[in-house]
Formats: sequence, C-alpha cells, structure tokens
Amino acid sequence: MLQGGKGDRDSFSSKFGVLAALAGSAIGLGNIWRFPYVVGQNGGGAFLLVYILFIAAIGIPVMMSEFVIGRSAQLNPVGAFKKIAPGTKWHLVGMLGVVSVFIIFSFYTVVAGWTLEYVIQSVRWILFPEKFGFASMDNAALTQFFSNHYESFTSGLWRPIIWFFVMMLLTGYIVISGVKNGIEKVAKILMPIFLVILLILVTRSVTLGGGREGLVFLFKPDFTQIKEEPFRIILEALGQAFFSLSIGMGTLITYGSYIKKKENLASTAVSVVAADTFVAILAGIAIFPAVFAFGIDPADGPELVYKTLPVIFQNMAGGLIWAFMFFVLLCFAAVTSTISMLEVIVAYLSEQLNMSRKKATLLSMISVGFLGTLCTVSPDVFAIFNASPDLMLPLGGFFIVTFIGWIFSRDKSSKELSSDGTRNIGYHKLFMFLVKFVAPLAIAFLFALGVYSKVITLFPSIG
Ligand code: PFF
Repeated sequence: MLQGGKGDRDSFSSKFGVLAALAGSAIGLGNIWRFPYVVGQNGGGAFLLVYILFIAAIGIPVMMSEFVIGRSAQLNPVGAFKKIAPGTKWHLVGMLGVVSVFIIFSFYTVVAGWTLEYVIQSVRWILFPEKFGFASMDNAALTQFFSNHYESFTSGLWRPIIWFFVMMLLTGYIVISGVKNGIEKVAKILMPIFLVILLILVTRSVTLGGGREGLVFLFKPDFTQIKEEPFRIILEALGQAFFSLSIGMGTLITYGSYIKKKENLASTAVSVVAADTFVAILAGIAIFPAVFAFGIDPADGPELVYKTLPVIFQNMAGGLIWAFMFFVLLCFAAVTSTISMLEVIVAYLSEQLNMSRKKATLLSMISVGFLGTLCTVSPDVFAIFNASPDLMLPLGGFFIVTFIGWIFSRDKSSKELSSDGTRNIGYHKLFMFLVKFVAPLAIAFLFALGVYSKVITLFPSIG
C-alpha cells in the first residue's frame, strides 16, 4: 500500500489491512488526549450525547462520501476533484483539505512528542523511584508533581522541539520507505495490545474512590452548560467528531483511493466509526473516575490526560511499567495517524506536482517542521492551530457531502458503493437522503451559528 506517486499506484493488501490502516488513522491522540478534555470542558454527558448523534448522522455519510470520491478517482484530494469534476472549482475543496491537514499535522506531532517525553520519564521513574519520592506522596502531591512536570517541559524550549522532530522523523521514515507490510503488520499486533492495556486502565480507574462520580459526569446528560453556550459547544462537538474520524480534509479520500474495488465501503465506514467511538468512550471511562478521585478539574484543558494518567498508574501495582507500555503504544497510535496526514500531502505533491515520493516527503517535513516549531514556542499559535479543526473540517465536510449529494450522479455513487453492482446496497436511498439534505443542512446551520457565537465572544458589542 501507499507507494503511490507517478502512476505506480498501489493498494491496501487485504480487508484487515484496510481496517487496520483506517482505524490507525482514526484512533489516536484525538481519542485519548483531545476527546476527554473537550468532554471535560463542555459539560460531560450532554456533550457526549451530541457527539454520538453527529458521529452517526453526519460522520458516517461524510466518511462514505470521501471513500466514494477517492476510490472512484484513484487520486489525492485535489487530483480526485479535478478528475471527476473537470473544469470546475471543486478541486479547491481538495486544496482546503491539504491546508487543513498541514495545520493539524503540525500541532498534532507536537502533542505526540509530549507522549514521548512520558515514555522517557516513565523509564526514569521506574529506574529511580526513590529520587522522585513517589512512595511518600499522597494523591494531591502526586497530581501536583505531574502538573508541574507537564508545565515545565511544555513551556521549556528544547525538549518539546526535540520530541516533535523525533516524531516527525519517525513518520517521515515510514512514509518514505512506504513500509507497507511493516505498518500493516505492526498495526495488527500493537492496536490489540493497546486496547488490552486501555481496558486494564479502565478497570483500575473505575474501582478508585471517585469512580461513580466520574461515570455520572461522563454518561449522565446534564444540559446546563450547553444551555449557556449552545452554539459554541455544539460546533466543538462537530469539530471533535470530524477530527477523531479523520474526515473533512481528504485524508480518507486519499486512503479511499488505496481501497480495492471489491471491498465494501459502507461496512468499512461503519466499522471504523464504531471502533473509533468505542476507544474514545473507553478513554473517557479511564480518565473521569480518576479525575474525580484525585480532585483534578475536569475542565483543565489540554493537560488533563497528561496529569491524570500518571496518577492512575501510580496507584496500580507495577504502575510504572504499565505507564511505560501505555505511552509507547499511545505514541504508536499517534504515528499511525500522523502517517495518514503525511500521506495526504505526499500524495498531493507527488501526483499533482510530479515530485518523487522522497522529495515530496522531505519538502512536507521541512514545512511542517517550521510550523510545528512555531507551535512549540508560541502557546497562541498552538491554541489557534488546535482550535482550527472545529471550523475547517466541518467546512470541508460540507462541500464533500454536497458534492456527492448534488453533483456526483446517483448512478455513479451507487456503482461505487455496490462494487460495480456486485453488492446489495439497500441503504442507498437513506445514504442519498443524508448526503443531500441532512448532513449539509445540519453542518451549514451549526457552522453558521458556531461562527456567529465565536464572533460574539470576540466582539461582544455586536451581540
Ligand atoms: N483522527 C486522528 C485522531 O483522532 O487522533 C487525528 C487525525 C488523523 C486528524 C488524520 C487528521 C488526519 F488527517
């Protein structure tokens, strides 16, 4: 898979390979790091409910639309629109996607680097426990310790930059060498282990003192906070859904172009969405009981996971070893996502600008290296980049479903979804209804209100 470039297109080797690569792209820091903290900041259970609604009614149709575009065109997002809608401006949607991926790739790799810091630190913590005095610390002191650690290293200059570049080089190395069997094989082994450790963590977390309170926070819808700022919060749920599923920017147009004609696009989309949502909820179940047990503020923001998880590990038998394994695997989960981002840019450069795969990868890494460094030195740039998916991805998603609903013919989408008529697609009517009306109208409406509420927050005098 993923050899691409200059006409020698390759494809995923098996059904399981497709699922591993797609789940690898979808499951990552978005589930473990971003999901718990946005749920925490936006009121818990009620936010989760809205999120799940968006995943089902909007996420699945957008994902299937991306697959249809990618697989029928067999090209990167820009090339795909140029091919199936020649002489129009639709390729700008592909361009918007490439730009979104660029921005996400930059800040995402910075956060992935933080994971590496925790891998290295857990080794130090395992080797020199007495130096850190863990045994004598109570939970409050431990939380403080990790909070201080998080703050001092993320605001430090060199370590975050170094970890960022390590993560980028790792991603670049895998994409350049197109280690297809490597990444497919490794994904098949490591993703299940990651899931097992996550389950162990969940078990430990819910049996902590504050377990019940955490679960109530996550699962019992309380609409108070949503009522206060409905549009901002609802747009954030939509942005998180797009981010977590890797949709709205052409990543899945690119991966879709590597899916063989005989594969079932609808069932693939449903499986990927289900797996991604399952892992996000598991992460929530692992985090919130501990957040309440240790008196951490659920609305703490991006640092939530990085100071909660270590405290759970500290309270487990052999906890530091679990911590080490968990962070290594989280790092891996992040890399299977960054690979998919880099792949979008490389496919674009190599197919549209006729660059070699190697040159395209190097050029992307140099530019992302620059933007990512900016994110590590400036908290403002980081915050803007991190907030960008909430606007850019729904916008991209709007155009993608509108294209499939109104421009791409019904017959062509039915041909693609039914693998040239060899598969029964009883759901096609429902799919067309969703992509023609439900998804575009819902996105447009939420987007407009979300932007309005953002503007009001910035310039209160307008309201
Ligand atoms: N879906 C990934 C996650 O939840 O961690 C993030 C992501 C992957 C975003 C690929 C964008 C992308 F192109």
